[in-house]
Amino acid sequence: MTRAALEREHREIDAGIESFTSGSRAGDALSLSGAIQALRRHIYLEEEFLFPSLREGAQPLSAAVPVMLREHGQVWDVLDLLEREIVTASRGETALTLCRQLMGMLSPHHLKEEEVLYAAADELLTRPAEVRLRGFLAYARLPAGWACEMAQQSHSHPHASAVRLFHSRDC
Ligand SMILES: [Fe+2]
Ligand SMILES: [Fe+2]
Repeated sequence: MTRAALEREHREIDAGIESFTSGSRAGDALSLSGAIQALRRHIYLEEEFLFPSLREGAQPLSAAVPVMLREHGQVWDVLDLLEREIVTASRGETALTLCRQLMGMLSPHHLKEEEVLYAAADELLTRPAEVRLRGFLAYARLPAGWACEMAQQSHSHPHASAVRLFHSRDC
């Protein structure tokens, strides 16, 4: 059940980002902004309420969590750039490039989570932990100022060159 709910969030987030680059809501900065917020909240729920339980598990779970945290950091940095970009120029070329970059990062990230972590979550989470997580999935809001564990620490990744490029362009 938890797995299905988390996978549904993946699909909704993917669709929200893709709708900015093509489709009926192309260029709609509001819908993109909603997808960005949904993704930040999704990362918050994973890091605060899902990963701690899985981190204690056996391999490959315990090894997968740090990888997911690092990828969240990379995604988070791109979201920061994207938000700055859509405030100043809705559907500019830079925003489109960042969206494509983001989708390229999310696709393998979501796949790994679904095949390794979410699949295990349904079995490993205790009933109280599952109820708690599903409650947060339904009602939690991203706390103001919350940032993922590895935000701004991800600049050793291949995508980081693009992130640095955008940063340096803005300076
Ligand atoms: Fe994630
Ligand atoms: Fe996820």
